[in-house]
Amino acid sequence: MKESLLSFIRCIFCRHELSLADISAASGSEILEAKLACNNCQAQFPVHNGVPRLVSTQVSVKEDLNTGAKFAVSWNKFSRLDARYFKQFFDWIAPVKPEDLKDKVVLEAGCGKGRHTQIVAECGAQEVVAVDIGDVVDLAYANVGHLPNVHIVQSDINVLPLARVFDFAFSVGVLHHMLNPRCGFESMTKLVKAGGSVCVWLYGRENNGWIVNVISPLRNAFTSKIPGPALTPIAWLFTVPLYAVAKGLMVPYARMQKKAKWLPELFYQEYLAYIGKFDFNEIESIVYDHLIAPVAYYIPRSEVESWFNQKRFTNKVIRWHNKNSWTACAKIEDVPSDSTATAKPEMLFFANK
Ligand SMILES: C[S@@+](CC[C@H](N)C(=O)[O-])C[C@H]1O[C@@H](n2cnc3c(N)ncnc32)[C@H](O)[C@@H]1O
Ligand SMILES: [Zn+2]
Repeated sequence: MKESLLSFIRCIFCRHELSLADISAASGSEILEAKLACNNCQAQFPVHNGVPRLVSTQVSVKEDLNTGAKFAVSWNKFSRLDARYFKQFFDWIAPVKPEDLKDKVVLEAGCGKGRHTQIVAECGAQEVVAVDIGDVVDLAYANVGHLPNVHIVQSDINVLPLARVFDFAFSVGVLHHMLNPRCGFESMTKLVKAGGSVCVWLYGRENNGWIVNVISPLRNAFTSKIPGPALTPIAWLFTVPLYAVAKGLMVPYARMQKKAKWLPELFYQEYLAYIGKFDFNEIESIVYDHLIAPVAYYIPRSEVESWFNQKRFTNKVIRWHNKNSWTACAKIEDVPSDSTATAKPEMLFFANK
């Protein structure tokens, strides 16, 4: 971690500022091994392998911790950073554009291997604080921790150990994996300053009946419970036909349809033609993610609308992405009154049940 993170980071129990203690290893401006101490409630948090660790079973639910552990397996299997992620990221968060990130203080909720952290940092963000609940933070730190404007923190989105300092908060493909997605959304938006903005991308319920009725039961009963290596051949069983249909059928069909407008739209065409441009490894990683996640909600537009139905949000955009997911963005005009609120256990179970 960089010492400059101290101006952002707070205690997860009392929200007091933290100070560095017992630094035992450092490399240049990176503090690798140390403690973060709260002088108010006396809590201490380790900085280990360069990453502050502010996750505690006292404040996080076991389901979210388990999700973090599962995704760490997935991202370590699909660890590469790829130039293609730039376009994919801005497709996901459109209408947000690269130039909107310049000089901004950005919060990334659920960073995985850091593929979007890198993009935001390289778009000229002033600082990017990227959090994830799982040990995947080690991979994110190895991938992007060296960038001068990047801070990787291990923490639960429900209990963000951060001050309200952000101009922009975003989350791609994360909130629907939390036990309580809405609580995660509220927690991250609470840290945005007045005049800042938020953008999230979520799995949609619309058009995804086949996943909800076929894949989710399989995932819940079986594939999210088996060890990572055993999942590999099962993921292949789905990836091979998916890859063949997406690349061999949907991409050429979509091209043909541009000329012959009378051709009917096929089931799931927009999404399959989109991923048909990816290589096998990337499609395998998408399948693997769908199978390994212990929790995955497919969220209807009405639920997304209810999250954004707040007086303090303006310039709202809720966009159906590839006809199977939702991108939702807004400007935040005002901060909520409970400015010092910490996540409370009873908040963790109120929606989506
Ligand atoms: C599908 S991955 C997406 C990662 C990244 N946004 C990307 O698109 O590359 C979901 C990530 O969310 C993280 N996650 C899930 N629940 C979380 C929570 N409660 N707090 C922080 N991170 C969480 C997981 O550990 C995982 O790395
Ligand atoms: Zn404290």
